[in-house]
Amino acid sequence: MTTEYIHAAVPGAVERAAALLQRGEVVAFPTETVYGLGATVFNSIAVRKVFDAKGRPADNPLIVHIAAVEDIHRVAVRIPPLFSVLATRFFPGPLTVIVDKHPDVPDIVTAGLPSVAVRMPAHDVALALIRAVGEPLVAPSANRSGRPSPTSAQHVLDDLDTRIAAVLDGGICSIGIESTVVSLRNNHIAILRPGSITKEELEEATGRTVVYAEMGKSGVPVAPGMKYRHYAPQARITLASTMHEVQQRIQEAQIKIRVLANEPIEGAGSVRPLRASTLYAEFRQADADGVEEIVLLCNSGIQRNVGLMNRILKAAAG
Ligand code: TXA
Ligand code: MG
Repeated sequence: MTTEYIHAAVPGAVERAAALLQRGEVVAFPTETVYGLGATVFNSIAVRKVFDAKGRPADNPLIVHIAAVEDIHRVAVRIPPLFSVLATRFFPGPLTVIVDKHPDVPDIVTAGLPSVAVRMPAHDVALALIRAVGEPLVAPSANRSGRPSPTSAQHVLDDLDTRIAAVLDGGICSIGIESTVVSLRNNHIAILRPGSITKEELEEATGRTVVYAEMGKSGVPVAPGMKYRHYAPQARITLASTMHEVQQRIQEAQIKIRVLANEPIEGAGSVRPLRASTLYAEFRQADADGVEEIVLLCNSGIQRNVGLMNRILKAAAG
């Protein structure tokens, strides 16, 4: 299959991408977090193509993307009162809520779970595309399974060229890490995946205590996706907590090293930035440059950023 490149600024771009989706094809599109790999939610055959293109395990459910808050009712039932509090404050935005699934949503979307993940992206191109299609879109991150999520159309093509019908290029994603995922079941809020919307912001908006639920009671991850290897570049990842540790590692290492940090480091040559918006792009660039080890300076500022630290730790464990 030839993958069609569609620049979002070209007249008719969104309509072209929407026509492909309506025909049951898979199209990658930009969001404010990372690029998503879209298919129409009620077409199981199209959704199957998303799993195939990514090489994604069938037991890892997808997020449904809507373009209006009230469209939650097309894919979910028994919406808890907490939903409207969160939607008023954070929709559109990088927040995904897990609620009870509507019977119309095919089981393949939710990997057979009785719940469904829903979010409304804060990106004009994504919203225009969903509206033009006239149906919510499933969209996991548009990378091959196990690769860092894509934050540009080029990253999507690097992973999925010839495997998908088209990529809609809307430029670089501003946030750069995936949405915060929260469960709202039983009208309680639990964070299944941290992101740029923080626990404190969720507590402030709802007046509730919010907990991290990364691991279930039996040690089984709560978000099905958490158990898979993620976000990992080919290069080995080393974490340092002080500038001195970075300098030591540079001195002893006999291999091609790259340092990512949010402050200058004496003797480290050219340090590349460490921040959420460019983390995955830096991982991809390091691999392209044949870097063998990436040293990340996780100082207290970085450590306070729970979403960013979560991706860093997963990459280091990978
Ligand atoms: O920012 C984002 O969320 C991006 C953009 C494209 O919207 N999407 C994204 O999708 O990161 P994906 O498929 O890479 O991650 C979805 C996460 C996985 O960890 C999955 O297990 C979890 O959401 N998830 C989906 N449905 C769920 C459900 N019903 N219950 C619990 N976790 C669920
Ligand atoms: Mg992903």
